[in-house]
Amino acid sequence: MTCQSAIGSEKSQVLALPPGLDVKRMPAHIAVIMDGNGRWAKARGLPRMMGHRAGVESLKTILRLCSDWGIGVLTVYAFSTENWSRPRDEVNFLMTLFENVLNRELQSLQNEQVKISFLGDLDALPENLTDLITKATHSTSLNTGIHFNVCTNYGGRRELVLAAKKLAERSARGDLDPALIDENVFAGELYTSKECDPDLLIRTSGENRISNFLLWQLAYSEIHVTDVLWPDFNDKDLLRALFDYQSRSRRFGGLESSSANQKVS
Ligand code: IPE
Ligand code: IPE
Ligand code: MG
Repeated sequence: MTCQSAIGSEKSQVLALPPGLDVKRMPAHIAVIMDGNGRWAKARGLPRMMGHRAGVESLKTILRLCSDWGIGVLTVYAFSTENWSRPRDEVNFLMTLFENVLNRELQSLQNEQVKISFLGDLDALPENLTDLITKATHSTSLNTGIHFNVCTNYGGRRELVLAAKKLAERSARGDLDPALIDENVFAGELYTSKECDPDLLIRTSGENRISNFLLWQLAYSEIHVTDVLWPDFNDKDLLRALFDYQSRSRRFGGLESSSANQKVS
């Protein structure tokens, strides 16, 4: 699917970019593994929960900046299918935090024209939270600003298995010829079917792994890992990630355009 940053489109008002950023090479879609909340709290002698609370403030800052700088899509990893294995108190705290924050921020998301979606196995979440998710998704669905995808009870492998299952069901019903299944048809069954793939993946807290995040969609994303813990991640860190991204040469398996043009002698 073609995907562009909001720059140049009529949809959104893009504020001035910081000097040095190339307006023509902005990523259209940024994905973020927001990691390091627990370590941030531990370093301050605080309970882990305080790290999660502080992480919400970083998320608000980064969403606002992405929207202001014309990023079309921001997809963040909030809770993985593996995070249920954490102590019950922490899981309960996170579920309540998601609900409280969404309740509190819904009006400002509306005001900022943010279109929010939740990607993952949402049926397994507490009912109050799923009800609120349904309300927030529905009430912002026609907004024309940034797409903000919150991966909640999300697992890349689960998403792939689900897609395979849906295709198998369509084939078994006689609605789909298996011979016609290609990458586009497959991608159409993923949670992200309406989005282009991320151009840039940011992971905080220095972990060099993707932890079951967007296994299909990250095939050709540029990866920026920073040691900064998520609650400390700010405008300067986002700018650093964008400069890093703009310094990359994206070849998608091909050659640099200058070398591609060279004749073979
Ligand atoms: C990321 O921070 C938030 C979630 C996974 C919900 P962590 O809670 O993983 O923080 P660390 O990695 O333990 O520091
Ligand atoms: C990834 O962080 C999940 C989220 C950020 C929601 P984790 O802290 O769960 O990942 P691992 O355990 O370090 O791989
Ligand atoms: Mg972690």
